[in-house]
Amino acid sequence: MFSLAGKKAVVTGGGSGIGRAISVLFAQQGAEVHIIELSEENAAATVQEITAAGGKAVAHSCNVASQADVLDTFNKIGALNILVNNAGIAHIGKADTTSEEDFDRVIKVNVKGVYNCLYAAIPQLRAAKGGVIVNMASIAALVGLSDRFVYSTAKGAVMAMTLSVARDYLHENIRCNSVSPARVHTPFVDGFLKNNYPGREAEMFEKLSKSQPIGRMAEPKEIAALVLYLSSDESSFITGCDYPIDGGFIKLNS
Ligand SMILES: NC(=O)c1ccc[n+]([C@@H]2O[C@H](COP(=O)([O-])OP(=O)(O)OC[C@H]3O[C@@H](n4cnc5c(N)ncnc54)[C@H](O)[C@@H]3O)[C@@H](O)[C@H]2O)c1
Repeated sequence: MFSLAGKKAVVTGGGSGIGRAISVLFAQQGAEVHIIELSEENAAATVQEITAAGGKAVAHSCNVASQADVLDTFNKIGALNILVNNAGIAHIGKADTTSEEDFDRVIKVNVKGVYNCLYAAIPQLRAAKGGVIVNMASIAALVGLSDRFVYSTAKGAVMAMTLSVARDYLHENIRCNSVSPARVHTPFVDGFLKNNYPGREAEMFEKLSKSQPIGRMAEPKEIAALVLYLSSDESSFITGCDYPIDGGFIKLNS
């Protein structure tokens, strides 16, 4: 079960955190993994980890916010079976404390970046006679989190794009779903704590861990396992759905 042998997969943001865990697991399951990354160094580290274990991976230096860059990269990759739209950036702020510059920056990566990859990938999925798309959303799109105005806005758009794409390509054998993690322990979280709570990182780490009723953050590999299921033939009846993976955050926090 869950074999990806003979499949070509693209993982955006595959150089770090959740994207790296997805790339490594996909390669273990037999996929040829193409990593689309802003950070050449991170992408190279993931490729090295995969090839050292005998897997197949290729790094592509690419900014998902640039359509020209993305089209060029997907044209090089050619026909593909799986797209994971994972690359994303964080932001802290309320509606009246989010600058126009920050609003545009987050939307450009977290919304336009997903659109750019869908735009470029769908013809390549069609060329492979169908395939699977998994978008990385967040619990921030499902519950009212404080200080996540533009981040939540962007992840809400990711969920809406998921439904739209699932509907439009239903009869072309292209499935599209999203996953919504609560807090996952990645460099994204460490960077967020360092920038926003300098000197209080350990205290805030503990607080964020406890905000999941299960008492801890997720490990990236736990998110990767769900993404593998949704990308495999075993989930062939699932499209147009969002899957919270949240240690009880949404339903058990009262
Ligand atoms: N970590 C969490 O708690 C958490 C929770 C819910 C959702 N998410 C989502 O999961 C995804 C991955 O998060 P993570 O924690 O692994 O983050 P991360 O910061 O560890 O990794 C993100 C990767 O994306 C790359 N990236 C950023 N902007 C890019 C761009 N413009 N073009 C190409 N690559 C780019 C970065 O270089 C980095 O390697 C994001 O979409 C994030 O919003 C994370």
